Amino acid sequence: MLNKYPKNVKIIEVGPRDGLQNEPSLVSLIDKKNLVKNLINSGLKDIEVGSFVSPKWVPQMAESAELINAISPTKQDDLNLSALVPNIKGLESAINTNINSIAIFASSSETFSQKNINCSIDESLERFSEVFKRTSASNLPVRGYISCAFGCPYEGDIDHQRVIELTTKLLELGCYEVSIADTIGCGNPSETDSLLHGLIAAVGRETIAMHFHDTHGRALENIEIALSKGISSIDSAVAGLGGCPYAPGASGNVATEDVVNLLNDLNIKHGIDLQKLIASGNEISQALGRRNSARVLQQKEAPSQGLFPIDFDNNDA
Ligand code: HMG
Ligand code: MG
Repeated sequence: MLNKYPKNVKIIEVGPRDGLQNEPSLVSLIDKKNLVKNLINSGLKDIEVGSFVSPKWVPQMAESAELINAISPTKQDDLNLSALVPNIKGLESAINTNINSIAIFASSSETFSQKNINCSIDESLERFSEVFKRTSASNLPVRGYISCAFGCPYEGDIDHQRVIELTTKLLELGCYEVSIADTIGCGNPSETDSLLHGLIAAVGRETIAMHFHDTHGRALENIEIALSKGISSIDSAVAGLGGCPYAPGASGNVATEDVVNLLNDLNIKHGIDLQKLIASGNEISQALGRRNSARVLQQKEAPSQGLFPIDFDNNDA
C-alpha cells in the first residue's frame, strides 16, 4: 500500500447537479445562480452545475443552459464548469452554452443502467462513443462516471473486475478522468482499499476520482483510504446535498465542508475558504428549507443550540 497522501487535492463540487437533481421541489434559477457564484467565491474551480438530460426524467435540471449562460464562464476564468450529458442530444444542447467540459455517466450494474438512462451498459458505451466523435473535434474535455461501483440498489454486490473493465473502456474512449461512484453509500474502507488496489494496478491513480454518497456515514473514512493510496480528485456536494432519483435509498453526497476539514487535518492543500463554503451551504440549505448536513458544522453549532447547557466557567455546583 502506498500510504502517502497527495500534496494537493482537487475537489469537484457536484452540489448544483447531484445535489439539486434530487430535491422534491424545483429550485429557482436565482437560487441556483447564487449557489454557483458563492461556490466560486469560496475558491472552488471545478463545479458540476447541471445536466443535459430529459426534463421529463429530471425536471430539476431543466434550466441548465440558462444557468450556465448566466454564470458565463470564459476560458480565462481558470474555472471548469461541467454538466452531465447522456447522449448526442444532450451534447448538442451543452455545446450551445459556454460550458468548459462535460461528463458522461455509465453504470457497472445492468439494472441501474436501464433504470437511469433507459439502455444497457453496451448501448450506453455506443452512445458515448458517438459523443466522443463530436467532442474530440472540438477539444471539449470529457469526464466519466461509473455508478454503483460499490453496490447496486437492484443487483446488490458488484464484481470489482466489472468496474475495472468499464473504467478502462471509458479511459480508452477518451475520458480525462473517471469518477468511481458509491451511488448508494454502501462502501466501506476495506472495500475501498481493495477496489482501488485493482483499479490503480490497471489504469494508474492519476485518472481516478472518487464519488461517495454518505448513506451509511462512511464516506470520510473511504476518502481517507483513497487519499492514502494517492488519489487526488474527490467529488463532494456543499451541505451534503444530493442523491440520485433512480437509486432508491441513496442519501446525500459527502459534504464538501467535511472533505475540506479532513484535508486541513491532513495538511493537504485544496484552495478553498472553509468559512465562505459554510456560508454557501447555509444559504442554499435555507433556500431549500432544510438543515445543512455537513458534520463539521453540526459539531461547531452543537453548544450554541443548547445541547451542552452547562457553563463550565460559572458552574458553582
Ligand atoms: P429515453 O426516453 O430512452 O430517450 O431517455 P429517447 O432517445 O427515446 O427520447 C425520448 C424523449 O426524450 C424525446 O423527447 C427526446 O427528445 C428526449 P419527446 O419526443 O418524447 O418529447 N431526450 C432528451 N431531452 C433532453 N436532453 C436529452 C435527451 N435525450 C432524449 N439529452 C435519457 C434517455 C438518457 C434521455 C433519459 O433516460 C434521461 O434523461 N435520464 C436521466 C438520467 C439522469 O439524469 N440521472 C441522474 C444523474 S446520474 C447520477 O446521479 C449518478 C452520478 O451522480 C454518479 C453516482 O452517484 O452514481 C453521476
Ligand atoms: Mg452521485
